[in-house]
Amino acid sequence: MAARPSFHPPRPSLLPSIAALARTIWRGDGDLLSLLPAEAYRMAIGELGYSRRSIKLVNDPAFVRQILEDQGETFPKSDLMVGALEALIGDSIFVSDGAKWRRQRAMIDPAFSLMRLHLAYASMTAAVDAQEARLDALADRAEAFSLDLAMSHLTADIICRTVFSVSLQSDVAREVFEDFALFERHVAQVKVWRLIVDPAWTKVGQEPAVLAACGRIRRRLGDLIDTHLVPGAPFNDIASAVIGARDAETGQGFSREELIDQLGVFFLAGHETTASALTWAFYLLAMRPDVLARVRAEIDDAVGDGPITFEQAKKLPFIRAVFKETLRLYPPITFMPRVALKPAMLGRRRLRRGALVMIAPWTLHRHRRYWRDPDSFDPDRFAPGREGEIVPGSYIPFGHGPHTCVGAGFAAVESALILARLARRFDFLIKEPEAVSPAARLTTRPRRQIMAHARRL
Ligand code: HEM
Repeated sequence: MAARPSFHPPRPSLLPSIAALARTIWRGDGDLLSLLPAEAYRMAIGELGYSRRSIKLVNDPAFVRQILEDQGETFPKSDLMVGALEALIGDSIFVSDGAKWRRQRAMIDPAFSLMRLHLAYASMTAAVDAQEARLDALADRAEAFSLDLAMSHLTADIICRTVFSVSLQSDVAREVFEDFALFERHVAQVKVWRLIVDPAWTKVGQEPAVLAACGRIRRRLGDLIDTHLVPGAPFNDIASAVIGARDAETGQGFSREELIDQLGVFFLAGHETTASALTWAFYLLAMRPDVLARVRAEIDDAVGDGPITFEQAKKLPFIRAVFKETLRLYPPITFMPRVALKPAMLGRRRLRRGALVMIAPWTLHRHRRYWRDPDSFDPDRFAPGREGEIVPGSYIPFGHGPHTCVGAGFAAVESALILARLARRFDFLIKEPEAVSPAARLTTRPRRQIMAHARRL
């Protein structure tokens, strides 16, 4: 049988730097993906020009490791990112560094242990049941729906159920979800001209509407935490694990304010990321019926129509390969910005104090030097036994070093379950597939919503 021609899913066209800048300014939506010039996919390290403050894009895997393995003394999280998120999540694990971060990480890690994931799995399954019912209703009415929104809704439901034991149907959870969406819409709009003219450590103020949304989210998270602080409260979820965590030296737990910070992070880092990955995965499967057929054959062999257990969801090697290849082509965290706190050397290159150091899974994962046919969708790159072919350090969807994603195992099992459950029941017929293109928001998202119809098999 003749091999199918390779499939190159959408990406911004590769332009020289000045044309890429013009494109971003013309579009005016602050999308940093369209700002990347063709050169960004070939260079090891280079200036992402035009800025008063030096902005370095770092693609060399050895330098990437040096930066991400730093303990926050030279390359902490960037001031821009910390400034954008602090009204929502304070000085919590996602943005802190040094001793403060080490204490938080040690207290949070156990909430994502294998045993905890096992417990969370039942709640994930309940959320997928609810999503299946919604898709059934849409299929009955032949009604188009937004794939992105459906995935955000599903992954937010999973976070609500696994962290707080409430479903997204509850008023409080729904309000948190809506305010998060507002926050993300505003905060994701990078003001390109400010990147160009502002010196390092310029304070970026938030609009009053965003601050108000953050205040509301924090109040509601506080209410949810209070239900767990009642003596004898009957919860066994991620919130109760974090509430029960103690500092190994002082024996102290998190204060109520710190709990709001930390549990807010799970909302922020834990639902839009997975929703982004799933949106792209279902889009890619819809575009490649031959890959979808292999996904279905694997589910059929491994589980048939029955329930999918935790152990089964963890195996499914082809579904895993599809998930990994999706994360390569559309890494949910497009950029991981750090700032040079002091002058530093990367090999023979000198970085000045205040330089913004951009590590971009997006360019690393599509780099001309590290990947064969980098823009093609080919899950077999991640087939068991072939992962040794990947250049070490060129694939970092969950980050690298001490700040590596806490929720990577959670996201992998949740995504395998969702892909398996929905792919075996539905075809997603994408409307206007040729109009789909990616943009960097808080996560890597379709520039415009992907509308689809669900058709039952
Ligand atoms: C496909 C889904 C996900 C992707 C691709 C992803 C990606 C990442 C990346 C790249 C980082 C490192 C950021 C940096 O170093 O600047 C990170 C950190 C983090 N992620 Fe995830 N994430 C995902 C899902 C989740 C989930 C489900 C949770 C929790 C429920 C979570 C919680 C966190 C936390 C708390 C951190 C901060 C860790 C630290 O700084 O110590 N993530 N994630």
